[in-house]
Amino acid sequence: MTKPIKWLLAIVATFLTLVLVLYIAMRVFVGAVDLDAVLNNPAEFNPANVGSQIQVPDGFSIGTFAADLTGARVLRFSDEGDLLVSMPKLGQIIILKDDDSDGRADRREVLLQGLNGPNGIDFFEGWLYVAESDALGRVSFDHATGLTTSPYQQIVTGLPGGGNHWKKTLRFGPDNLMYVSMGSSCNVCTEDDERRGTLVRYSPDGTNEMIFARGLRNSAGFDWSANGDIYATDNGRDLLGDDYPPCELNLVTEGAHYGWPYANGNQEPDPDFGAGNEALIEKSVAPVHNFKAHNAPLGIEFIDAEGMPEEYQGAAIVALHGSWNRSEKDGYKVVSLHWNAAGEISERDFVSGFLDDGDVLGRPAEVVQGPDGAVYISDDYSGVIYRVAYGEQQQLQLGSVADAYSAENSLSSYTNDDVDRLNTAGKALYNQYQCIACHNDNGRGLKTLENLGLKYDVETLSEYLRRPNAPMPQFPFDEAQREALSVYLIDRYPGS
Ligand code: HEC
Repeated sequence: MTKPIKWLLAIVATFLTLVLVLYIAMRVFVGAVDLDAVLNNPAEFNPANVGSQIQVPDGFSIGTFAADLTGARVLRFSDEGDLLVSMPKLGQIIILKDDDSDGRADRREVLLQGLNGPNGIDFFEGWLYVAESDALGRVSFDHATGLTTSPYQQIVTGLPGGGNHWKKTLRFGPDNLMYVSMGSSCNVCTEDDERRGTLVRYSPDGTNEMIFARGLRNSAGFDWSANGDIYATDNGRDLLGDDYPPCELNLVTEGAHYGWPYANGNQEPDPDFGAGNEALIEKSVAPVHNFKAHNAPLGIEFIDAEGMPEEYQGAAIVALHGSWNRSEKDGYKVVSLHWNAAGEISERDFVSGFLDDGDVLGRPAEVVQGPDGAVYISDDYSGVIYRVAYGEQQQLQLGSVADAYSAENSLSSYTNDDVDRLNTAGKALYNQYQCIACHNDNGRGLKTLENLGLKYDVETLSEYLRRPNAPMPQFPFDEAQREALSVYLIDRYPGS
């Protein structure tokens, strides 16, 4: 190189370095950009991130059965192997069909809609049963076609709904009776309606209601072991610190009391409700297994481990939803419970990795074993159903399933003028209530809003806003305001 060119290069390099240093110094000291945040951009919530870090035990693989299912909760397979999913937030029960049996849903249809917070679902003698927030109902169901064949009818009404734990779980037992868990209305309190905080049993037609067991704060999941015992998960109360009380697995027997609200864990008097209830506490039944505090165990399923390693014989799989009521987040995984010969229970990770350095990527909610032996897990945070199988290769590939059934643009029923007017009103509400605090478009908020037009129409988004998923707060919007916000959000985040 000739001398002048060398000089020129040196000058240019020095100049560029200076500019860079100056720029960074300006950004940091002037504070126009939070450089720290830019450099350590926390993993924004993006379903595509989920795949890379989710772990399953050796020999198992995890794949995506379906995605874009807002608030998907309880899962139940029909005799034909179609998967029914309850969507309490949207008021719907949907059916997913895997026509080519490749472990990914190909079709999705709405079976029932307009229900009030439908959560628990189960089949019994040709009926599909549904537990709404305040009622139980059923519809006759043709397993061969996957269609309902009668109008949906409520068979029990006037159940205590609302408040905390308004989702009810419903399952038929080996005794052909219907069991419904009714969570408490509060964190800790004495209930006005004695059915809250209990497991209630009915005849299949909804008659003969009887409280089967009490003192269960929120037994969102229960299942029968091979020898016919009922095991129920239960979530311990909040506000007694990060590590107390434990969440529970209870062996539920008729007439027993499991402590809430008077006792926590193993007959330990509750600081607020224990005093004066000593006799009751002494009779209360201790859990058979403690989960860590605030892990929030929800769905439980005893699995048939044929073809799986020996240690899964007689095991149960439990979804730990995780809790925001803890300074350091914990839970957010799926575990397996194993009974040894002495009846002692040990807990192992089954699917983990939904917690990424404090950022939540998913919240497992419910578990069911499919006719193919695979374990299906709903995640009501990312709206995904995972499929965990042994001795099979599969991949978490989120996104592509969603494209298959993208909803029609629901704003087409509005005139342009209406869209403009509602848009303006919606935007004003969005600003007034500072939604941006959690929904920052740069991905640094709690949750990035995207593709809303693919997931919702105005009606379903309004319904979501009426009763959002925690930790999204509930705002005091009336119907018109919810409509305006929904139009604004769908218009702003239509999805491609
Ligand atoms: C305190 C934080 C917070 C605030 C404030 C907040 N949200 Fe949310 N929002 C969330 C979180 C977290 C979720 C995800 C909840 C879930 O499904 O688990 C969410 C979910 C949503 C969803 C559903 C997104 C989807 O992909 O299904 C919509 C729509 C929404 N919020 C709109 C709003 C609007 C409109 C406002 C203001 C009126 C608002 N949010 C205020 C935290 C917040």
